[in-house]
Amino acid sequence: MSAETNSVPRPLTSRTVPALSGTVRVPGDKSISHRALIFGALAAGTTRISGLLEAEDVLNTAKALTALGAPAQKSGSEWQVLGRGIGGLRAPEGPLDFGNSGTAARLMLGVVAGHDITAELTGDASLQKRPMGRVLAPLQQMGLGVEDGRDRLPLVVRGTSSLVPIVYELPVPSAQVKSAILLAGLLASGETTVIEREATRDHTERMLRYFGAEVVARDEDGRRHITVSGDAELTGRAVNVPGDASSAAFLAAAALIVPGSDVTIKGVLVNPTRTGFYLTLKEMGGDVELSNAREEGGEPVADIRVRASKLTGVLVPAERAPSMIDEYPALAVVAAFANGATRMPGLAELKVKESDRLAATVAGLTANGVAARAEDDTMIVEGAGRVAGGGTVETHLDHRIAMAFLTMGLAAERPVTVDDTTMVATSFPEFTGLMQGLGASFLAPAEAP
Ligand code: S3P
Repeated sequence: MSAETNSVPRPLTSRTVPALSGTVRVPGDKSISHRALIFGALAAGTTRISGLLEAEDVLNTAKALTALGAPAQKSGSEWQVLGRGIGGLRAPEGPLDFGNSGTAARLMLGVVAGHDITAELTGDASLQKRPMGRVLAPLQQMGLGVEDGRDRLPLVVRGTSSLVPIVYELPVPSAQVKSAILLAGLLASGETTVIEREATRDHTERMLRYFGAEVVARDEDGRRHITVSGDAELTGRAVNVPGDASSAAFLAAAALIVPGSDVTIKGVLVNPTRTGFYLTLKEMGGDVELSNAREEGGEPVADIRVRASKLTGVLVPAERAPSMIDEYPALAVVAAFANGATRMPGLAELKVKESDRLAATVAGLTANGVAARAEDDTMIVEGAGRVAGGGTVETHLDHRIAMAFLTMGLAAERPVTVDDTTMVATSFPEFTGLMQGLGASFLAPAEAP
């Protein structure tokens, strides 16, 4: 059952605290966790995963794969997926419910497309509003059948074991769309190519190679061409999931804005297609230090130390957006504590996340006395070096909006309330506990001063 269906909203208030300090680990990266499970199901043999993110989004993927005949279960401290080999999944008996997760729904559309099965895919109220046409269009070109021509969940789709390979230029910078096509391409005969104008996270390419698929990426005419060979064979592997760079962003933001803080986050994924946020913090004058850089399972990992800093507003280049798309709510909060304007152009994709994050972020800032606005696809935050706080933020079933504004309350002059924290369980169930361990203070609104 998804968080939302349980749900009586759970508001929470955060208030100003003295310095945050300590060394922590964040749970496993969500993007990599989904992929480890899915690729494990498509591989021959068992895949063992340590550090899997045990949050609702990922648990829904495990359930869906189990329903498709590839059991994904926890065994001791690791997860195991009993892979069925390429093309080996079977029709599910009931609908596949992906809860709040766009990544799971879209990647799994690519998987279902290449199997001779009919499946119904559904999700929660947030996911049912999100565009699926962006994955359905290329997958239909490859041979996927879609009932009723719908482009939103719930959807009934019919896959085929004779998918046709395509060459497809992404109209939007989306790793989910790229990954859905590459997954379908594994199951097609011949070579499938995805062309990206802006590089998006490349976990699919890295991990598919690790599982034994042939994936070649080359740059041509300023675009990235990624080709996967069909009729692939994947072999079950051991995967060690690094700490989630997007979850770590909230801790880093908190450490920067709460005076006197000094926080180290160990073992964080620092794949360059995911680190735009940390680069931007440095440009703002943030004391952000990466150390102990290493590679784990084909992904770069490092420890990140963040100390409270005096910050200045910056212009964040639009082309950096794909490498930090999930971090804009956290960045906007940091920008509110900086001096001067931070301009963030190129944010069209932010409008189609778990909520319209551009609107939700601006509204949350405004409710707390920060001068912020959206101009088309640009977010502008006029940092004044301080935040009044005292407002209540509408989270719109969006985990990252909830976590960003709870973070803001830790350094605002008056407490900040978010209307519902239920969805935090979709990506970072340990969020409040970890933050409290560093010195944060969260209270149910009735207890707040
Ligand atoms: C993800 C890709 C991004 C990101 C999402 C995870 C992935 O979405 O926002 O949280 O794992 O591929 P888009 O591909 O839609 O940009």
